[in-house]
Amino acid sequence: MIEERPIVEIKNLSKFYKMGGETLKALDDVSFSVKKGDFVAIIGPSGSGKSTLMNMIGCLDLPDQGEYHLDGKDVFSLKNNDLADVRNQKIGFIFQSFNLLPKQTAYENVELPLIYRGLSAAERKEIAMSALNKVGLADRADHRPTELSGGQQQRVAIARALAGNPPILLADEPTGALDSKTGKEVLKLMKELNKQGHTIILITHDMDIAKQAKRIIRIHDGKILAEKGVVFL
Ligand SMILES: Nc1ncnc2c1ncn2[C@@H]1O[C@H](COP(=O)(O)OP(=O)(O)O)[C@@H](O)[C@H]1O
Ligand SMILES: [Mg+2]
Repeated sequence: MIEERPIVEIKNLSKFYKMGGETLKALDDVSFSVKKGDFVAIIGPSGSGKSTLMNMIGCLDLPDQGEYHLDGKDVFSLKNNDLADVRNQKIGFIFQSFNLLPKQTAYENVELPLIYRGLSAAERKEIAMSALNKVGLADRADHRPTELSGGQQQRVAIARALAGNPPILLADEPTGALDSKTGKEVLKLMKELNKQGHTIILITHDMDIAKQAKRIIRIHDGKILAEKGVVFL
């Protein structure tokens, strides 16, 4: 169910890169919001500004201009430490390349963020196993990433993102390293998680993937374009 309350509110956001004598507008006056419970795809070709926007939404980088309210918090007014806290609490990241620790088991990978949160071993076990269960991998908890298929590795990464119970899952090309059948399964899982109430923002260059979302935002040359009859101004 989509709530009216926006969990992401971005207003007039710009990011510039100075290259030699020229200024490149990686993001040019971008405004949009995402409601709690929504599943939004951000689509654009290579170089359109998707990763730059993901870094802003994920509190990994700061813009040159603009406002960002994340779950009611004014992100760009925060100091570095507070920014890291907000990032850890509010965002579960899912990357194209999974970013699992190769020497740790699936369970240990999912457990790691919970250690940083200072939870007891018993609490960690309950949460990590429940997250692995949600992605259908409880029986692979003891496997290392090399003992898992690409699709399974991405599901472990999704379990790790879920374990912190963040209000938003932010995925950058989550199926980009997977074959199309496995990619579809991962997308199905993301749709299922959205049905369970997780807000999902998925970044992709692939319209077939974007179409799986409830809403599509198109980005081109750092600007947001209209899509599906909705104009984002
Ligand atoms: N650190 C950087 N320094 C200079 N230019 C950058 C930097 N990061 C991205 N860019 C430029 O900003 C634009 C948007 O890049 P990016 O957000 O990575 O696009 P996408 O993820 O859609 O491929 C591109 O023209 C890219 O070359
Ligand atoms: Mg990119």
